[in-house]
Amino acid sequence: MDNKIKTVINLNKGHLKFYACLKYLVTPFSELDSRIPKKCRLLDIGCGYGVYSIYFALKSERRTISGIDKNPKKINYADKISKGCRNVNFNVLDLDKNYALPEADVYLINDVLHHINNMSKEILLKKISDKMKKNNILLIKEMHSGSKIKFFLNCINDKIMTFNKKLYFIEKERLLSSFKKLGLKVRHYKLNNYIFPHIIYICKK
Ligand SMILES: C[S@@+](CC[C@H](N)C(=O)[O-])C[C@H]1O[C@@H](n2cnc3c(N)ncnc32)[C@H](O)[C@@H]1O
Repeated sequence: MDNKIKTVINLNKGHLKFYACLKYLVTPFSELDSRIPKKCRLLDIGCGYGVYSIYFALKSERRTISGIDKNPKKINYADKISKGCRNVNFNVLDLDKNYALPEADVYLINDVLHHINNMSKEILLKKISDKMKKNNILLIKEMHSGSKIKFFLNCINDKIMTFNKKLYFIEKERLLSSFKKLGLKVRHYKLNNYIFPHIIYICKK
């Protein structure tokens, strides 16, 4: 296991330690890390408990990571466990309300698009694309419906984790068409070695 993953897991407390372990087994930490420059400002949009943000910060001290999420409890927790890590910070921001998007070189949306409604998705992608300069990256990790069994497993997981909140999965073709309208060039690929059906989109201007 990657040493930095071990550190992140050990920073967590109680059931969230177990959750971080499980997350490591079922989601692509190192794959996403490999797509992020070692020196950059990264905005982790919908960062949750900050597990990924802290991991990326530990992987390179030359990165500055800002995590945002609408849930103040998650942000407080992420803030607390990352106290010793100087290159990461966390703030509350609700993508369903009016907001100013912070500047970054890399915008990460990791398993968040299917938790926000289509209007909020559209607004978020437009705000990001308006801010993006040449060489900036929009990195999205979502679930695809190509594998029905894996997709079903992920839906069960999401329903449990969100206490049965509504989900707003977006089809690959629709997302690709949104990127095109925004003038973004995109490369995408699926990751087949996981229990969940991960798909990664890498967008540039
Ligand atoms: C499945 S979790 C992903 C967390 C994190 N990106 C990760 O991969 O570990 C989805 C996150 O999106 C956040 N979220 C949902 N709706 C949001 C909104 N309107 N504004 C900001 N964050 C939101 C939730 O609070 C939750 O932490």
